[in-house]
Amino acid sequence: MTLENQMSVTASAPAKVNLALRVGARREDGYHQLDTVFMALDLFDDVTAFPAASAITMEIQGLGEDLPQDEQNLVIRAAKLLQEKYQVKQGAHLKVVKRIPVAAGMAGGSADAAATLVALNSLWKLELNSAQLAILGVSLGSDVPFALLGGIARGISRGENLSPIIPKIMYGWVILTNPKGLSTPEVFRKFDEISPFAPVNPADTSPVLKALENASYTELATAFENDLCAPALALRPDLKELFEKLENFGVGQILSGSGPSIAVLCEPEKLSEIAKKIQLAFPNLGVVVAIGPAAGAHLR
Ligand code: C5P
Repeated sequence: MTLENQMSVTASAPAKVNLALRVGARREDGYHQLDTVFMALDLFDDVTAFPAASAITMEIQGLGEDLPQDEQNLVIRAAKLLQEKYQVKQGAHLKVVKRIPVAAGMAGGSADAAATLVALNSLWKLELNSAQLAILGVSLGSDVPFALLGGIARGISRGENLSPIIPKIMYGWVILTNPKGLSTPEVFRKFDEISPFAPVNPADTSPVLKALENASYTELATAFENDLCAPALALRPDLKELFEKLENFGVGQILSGSGPSIAVLCEPEKLSEIAKKIQLAFPNLGVVVAIGPAAGAHLR
């Protein structure tokens, strides 16, 4: 092991699916009032922080190697935010190993930001607690606090105001990914266009919360509700056919976040069999298998 490796710190952060994503009208600050239920999946991006003199640099391995590696990337933004706020003199080189599909509605960028905060909190010995990290997280993106927390949680306001839900059983997911991503702001803009009279407050997520309480896969699938599905389908009519075809495989399916990934719920013991069938039915699309709930951002 080199000296550099000995001093490096690695953190992992999870992808998510929203079991319910209810959207209210656009607020004055441009965000939408949400009522959502997140579940973290055991599909993790890793961020390894290496010590550096003062600069912040990054590289990406795995998926998304062509993503910007400057201030447009949440990894660089998270590191600079910490550096500036806590007047850190040192820098860092951040190596991201990406497994979470990009622009897929699975909060991969938020996971990278969360993992960066956790890795640098350790590398730079800042000793920030989880509440402090969550406050930094929300200034980077609405989903970052959940990527830090993990598990299952209801999120209100922008989705950052979280109440953890104690899981009773594990859930299997086959995620059908898409080579062409969808932009979250664009999907929200489409939502405004097709729902000009959306109520200020979103519909509530109690059917999903009850299904989780009852530990019922079928009740959960019946309760799935994603208000971003209609706008995502308006932008990407090709997804409609995928939804129709997917009806024959798992217990139920839902668009993941703002899409275009579609998450198929199944019992964990049937996961690999259903994944194989879905891959055969959609040979040109990506299939990712995951189990949830999983841990939030943590040191490895
Ligand atoms: O918070 P984040 O930067 O991840 O959000 C990306 C975009 O998604 C926002 O700029 C906004 O257009 C939209 N968004 C929203 N309401 C939310 C969360 C996100 O309109 N609650």
